Amino acid sequence: MDIENSLIYSSRKIDPVSENRNWLEKEYLPNVKGSLLFVGIKEYCANYKKIAVGVDQFTTLDVNPEVAKFGGDYHYVSTLDEFILSNTNRKYQNISLHGLWGMNDSYSSDKAGMKESISNSLSALRSGGTLQFGAAIWDGIISEKEYEELFEDLGLVGNKIIHKSIVDVHNYPWKTHYILWARK
Ligand SMILES: C[S@@+](CC[C@H](N)C(=O)[O-])C[C@H]1O[C@@H](n2cnc3c(N)ncnc32)[C@H](O)[C@@H]1O
Repeated sequence: MDIENSLIYSSRKIDPVSENRNWLEKEYLPNVKGSLLFVGIKEYCANYKKIAVGVDQFTTLDVNPEVAKFGGDYHYVSTLDEFILSNTNRKYQNISLHGLWGMNDSYSSDKAGMKESISNSLSALRSGGTLQFGAAIWDGIISEKEYEELFEDLGLVGNKIIHKSIVDVHNYPWKTHYILWARK
């Protein structure tokens, strides 16, 4: 996929095999370039550094100390907000906030807190850097319309969008995921 010339696409798909993870592993990680702060890790992320062939520095962060062993080149144990606010000199070319809100193991699923965390993350991006958000399950957090408003408020609209999609997820068949990848 040619990221610079990629078409914005918005679609709703039935998800037989966790479409959001498919997108993360097949479209995002192989194409992201430069330094990456990948927030939230799990055992299934242990090979992500290898998939992300264009990433020269794969930094991971998770509030749960037990998952540190799956971390990247550098790993930090902290909440996203505390990490960014106490390291304002650290800037990244890319930040991924995938699977952080609306899940069983989410640190928080607070709507206002989510907006603040995304805003903090934008401040930790280098000029021209990219932010990847989602998947997040909006049912119970915010509606699709509120997601659109949130990203509009943050200025992540129009030609800043590299990818946007809305997918249904097989393990939560009654819920929906929102995925966004945008340039600051
Ligand atoms: C569902 S996993 C997502 C893993 C990975 N980002 C992915 O999508 O492949 C959620 C992980 O993110 C961590 N997490 C959630 N919210 C966080 C926050 N605000 N700061 C740091 N870690 C967080 C949790 O501890 C958990 O290990």
